[in-house]
Amino acid sequence: MVVAVMMVVVMVVTQASAKSPRYQEPCEVTEEDPDGDCFWGEAGVDYPVFSYVPKTSFSCQDVIPGIYADTEASCQVYHMCQKNRKIDSFLCPNGTLFHQEYLVCDLWFNVDCGRAEAFYKINEVIYSGPRRKPVSASYQ
Ligand SMILES: *[C@@H]1O[C@H](CO)[C@@H](O)[C@H](O)[C@H]1NC(C)=O
Repeated sequence: MVVAVMMVVVMVVTQASAKSPRYQEPCEVTEEDPDGDCFWGEAGVDYPVFSYVPKTSFSCQDVIPGIYADTEASCQVYHMCQKNRKIDSFLCPNGTLFHQEYLVCDLWFNVDCGRAEAFYKINEVIYSGPRRKPVSASYQ
């Protein structure tokens, strides 16, 4: 009985170690994921796969401080423009793009990069400080 239990334990441990690390296993190739990279769509076709931030014409000189999707990099890149015009640039993880309306990296099919520039004005609120509502009640 004890031996049987120990054998089961050994089998479970062996199976677990043979499968790890799970995150490196490729996904199955399906119609929705033709390259088997675990994201819907095809890498490099449906969404960009930059390994570094590419050089584009985006500059913080022309814009107010805030966070900006780079449409020249298909929105996988976003820039943070500081008040002193310093620029910090970032890549969204593969399979995601920067969503200018929500200011997060979101799955590529949720992001319409062509509309990003229309939402740049969302940055007008970033450095404007807390909004104060006028106090209407009287406590006297
Ligand atoms: C995206 O995928 C490409 C190709 O597999 C890889 O070279 C690159 O490092 C990946 N980029 C990121 C940000 O993980």
